[in-house]
Amino acid sequence: MAKRLASPEPTWEIDTDVVVLGSGAAGLSVALAARPVRDVILITKDTLDAGSTQWAQGGLAAVLDPDDSIENHVRDTLAAGAGLCNEVAVRTLVTEAPTAIRYLSRLGAAFDPGDDGGIALTREGGHSHDRIVHAGGDQSGAEVQKTLDESVRHAGVRVVEHAFGLDLLIGYNAQGHRCVAGVRVALLDENGDVQSVGDITARAVVVATGGFGQVYASTSNPPAVTGDGIALALRAGAEIVDIEFIQFHPTVLWTGPDATGQQALISEAVRGEGAILFDAAGERVMKGVHSQEDLAPRDIVAAAISKRMSESPAGVDDHVFLDARSIGARFVTRFPSITASCLVVGINPVQDLIPVAPAAHYACGGIRADLDGVTSLIGLFAVGEAACTGVHGANRLASNSLTEGVVAGTRVGRSLSWSLPENIRPAEDDRVSGLLPAELRAELRGTMSKHVGVLRAPDGLRSAHDTLQRLLDKVDADVVATRRSFEATNLLTVAVALVAAATARTESRGCHRRTDFTQALPEWQRHLLVIDADGTITPQ
Ligand code: SIN
Repeated sequence: MAKRLASPEPTWEIDTDVVVLGSGAAGLSVALAARPVRDVILITKDTLDAGSTQWAQGGLAAVLDPDDSIENHVRDTLAAGAGLCNEVAVRTLVTEAPTAIRYLSRLGAAFDPGDDGGIALTREGGHSHDRIVHAGGDQSGAEVQKTLDESVRHAGVRVVEHAFGLDLLIGYNAQGHRCVAGVRVALLDENGDVQSVGDITARAVVVATGGFGQVYASTSNPPAVTGDGIALALRAGAEIVDIEFIQFHPTVLWTGPDATGQQALISEAVRGEGAILFDAAGERVMKGVHSQEDLAPRDIVAAAISKRMSESPAGVDDHVFLDARSIGARFVTRFPSITASCLVVGINPVQDLIPVAPAAHYACGGIRADLDGVTSLIGLFAVGEAACTGVHGANRLASNSLTEGVVAGTRVGRSLSWSLPENIRPAEDDRVSGLLPAELRAELRGTMSKHVGVLRAPDGLRSAHDTLQRLLDKVDADVVATRRSFEATNLLTVAVALVAAATARTESRGCHRRTDFTQALPEWQRHLLVIDADGTITPQ
């Protein structure tokens, strides 16, 4: 396995205090909070709004209703997380969430108003109370993205688009400890070809690059979400934890058996407003499965749908239906972008059943970090979906992620403005470099969807392992360096770690479901660390 992405030699170097990789809610919040005191460069491999934040529909979870309580939100988050949450982190997130909503409002975010003139709240799976703040009906992420984009530019953060963070620069402190000294960056043209390569030296590198939904053939995530930051951290030897817990959203719009890439999300808020899941034979999917029925936590709904599809009711084994007709004409104004996605494929959600299926949605694991972003590697910070802070455990509670991005992002930025790690010069880097040819990406994604999806069987995991080993043999230093080959290599790196962790965890818990070990086991109420890009597992 290559320990570095192959690229042309660097021809420039710049220095800053803090470099942030990624431009979703988390990365922008870091930059905004650090900027008043620090010189901050924020790089993103695409345009600022190309990541997952822009696509988030449901909203941000926060206790704003006087009839709700912090304790309720903590309890719901811990229950969804299936025994692997860090309660201190959960409590911190939940307690700071209402402030984060007020902060975004002050920055200009226009959240949908409720009947009482306050902020409207809705419900999603796993929540015992209405506490999801939304904007533009189902365009909550877009409102957060726009608000933070404008604030970051106004604050004077240096933003560099089409800049790909390749690998961390590593040096050593006086005690001989490995430390992050900056990041090597490829500047790309609009086609993703490399224009130049250079080094940004920095006291702190913050990874906020999101998850890796594109490792699967079908995902709610946009094309840019390829696990770049997690792969870069793995190659540098940072601790990666809980990577087997991939949350599958129960309902993306099903448009045919061969649909690949980003699929239109049908927000859980649609079920929050009363929609019900049926199979093709007209039987309810969630009746008798869980006390919260269609609003059960997401892992339970996705697994129930997958099981029902495998039984092929009325001969249909690849989708079920969402009946949202009870919402009536209000559907169009409450869910404008979902309405538009449905109409494109000839479905009118006011009158028709919506065909839906689960798809990869959120990485609950990632770079091990606390809510101030501190990781196992000095000088490396991680935040948002790229990080694993213990807030989500084995299954994230709906709409806790945008909230985490803003809460943790602001905490990381604030803490970096208070103090920075020491200045370290990069040492000579003699790690082996290579790239996976971009055209092999389809095989990788197909294998992951077939064998490492909602339900994971032992022979499927073995088959995925074998395919990945074959792909590793194709990694070569002479492959042309482009955005596509960087991404393909990063996807392979995270896939190797994911398959190793999913194979090692011989139980079913949260969003990791094994067909051969169908129960959660007390001895597995612990985390798995992956600390090597080859997928070496260290149980904690
Ligand atoms: C949704 O709107 O269903 C997605 C919200 C989330 O993933 O938190």
